[in-house]
Amino acid sequence: MSHLRKVLVTGGAGYIGSHTVVSLVHSGYQPVILDNLSNSNPAVLDNLRDILQQDLIFYRGDCRDQDLMHSIFNEHQLSGVIHFAASKAVGESVEKPLLYYSNNLDSLLVILENMDQYGVANLVFSSSCTVYGQPDHLPVTESTERKPAASPYGNTKKICEDIIFDVVQSPASLKAISLRYFNPIGAHESGKLGELPIGTPNNLVPFVAQTAAGIRDSITVFGDDYNTPDGTCIRDYIHVMDLADAHVKSLNHLDQQETDACYDVFNLGTGNGNSVMEVINSFQEVTGAPVNYQIGGRRSGDIEQIFANVEKAQRELGWTASKNLQQALADTWKWQQTLMKSV
Ligand code: NAD
Ligand code: WQD
Repeated sequence: MSHLRKVLVTGGAGYIGSHTVVSLVHSGYQPVILDNLSNSNPAVLDNLRDILQQDLIFYRGDCRDQDLMHSIFNEHQLSGVIHFAASKAVGESVEKPLLYYSNNLDSLLVILENMDQYGVANLVFSSSCTVYGQPDHLPVTESTERKPAASPYGNTKKICEDIIFDVVQSPASLKAISLRYFNPIGAHESGKLGELPIGTPNNLVPFVAQTAAGIRDSITVFGDDYNTPDGTCIRDYIHVMDLADAHVKSLNHLDQQETDACYDVFNLGTGNGNSVMEVINSFQEVTGAPVNYQIGGRRSGDIEQIFANVEKAQRELGWTASKNLQQALADTWKWQQTLMKSV
């Protein structure tokens, strides 16, 4: 007899959420997707149905809508929640801090209240390596100290982690994991799902892909005078399908915990650092598509280098990245070509 465990996936139409929906279904979970489509497109739902060859439960609405939340928790017997929904643009958060504090904090609070009220114990929360700032030692482990946030966005991730920690210490029965993603890139191997660029991309890999596709004339490399081997910044780029897999493993891990309350934090990266120039050169090698670039000045707020120690996720979740930078860039290019055909 099959018994599908239902999981509320907030932000499930977004970049990481939509890929996680695929992994959840393939692992025997039934996702209940909630998204207000503020940073995503309803076509993502069609593409998901196409990949999964099945219908999906989808609510268009806001995490902060108490009535909607009550009706979802009433309607579905949830075994857990994966909370992706948030505003995520670092620069915009500096311009509109209240929007970021309102959306990112209030959404979490409403979810936690409903989980408590309806007796849903398991939460997986999308955190970020941004909580480490520029670390003093590399690679960063989960016990590396968090630095004061460099942006309101980063601060919301830090505060959300702290809120979850406090609720776990309280009499409410909450079992939670915060996943600190490093730099998510790539797309589903089908070419039917990927990151939907709205406006000019802020992030490196979507900008590289759009430059190769001729949508942008060239990409500016933000600084080549850093204290790194080639002078450009170093990050830990992680394939989005590997991230998706880590969410399923996190839910399974929470299910196995026999206590009423627990909290844990995991880094999700490959453990390798790659420079901006390595990403551009690898993209050209993997795809054969030339990428025009020029060297520019440093981008304000950028950190020089960061990459993860991922031993804890390997040891405790049984998770490790299975795809490398080259595979992620090839999948990005496949997705970029799908986007160009649909224009
Ligand atoms: P995304 O913008 O593609 O997805 C977020 C989704 O949430 C969007 O579909 C948006 O419409 C929805 N949403 C936003 N606010 C909502 C609300 N109040 N109610 C309902 N839906 C709402 O972003 P993503 O890249 O998939 O990121 C997912 C999560 O991971 C976010 O919490 C983000 O902060 C975090 N994260 C992302 C990155 C990254 O580089 N992409 C890195 C670290 C952490
Ligand atoms: C990567 C590298 C840039 C664009 C951001 C958020 C972080 C997290 C992940 C959510 C940097 C360089 C970029 C370009 C460039 N998100 N670059 N030219 O800054 O590491 O992290 O996304 O939690 O919080 O800050 O990612 O992709 O913007 O930049 O040279 O046009 O590429 O300087 O070194 P970042 P990114």
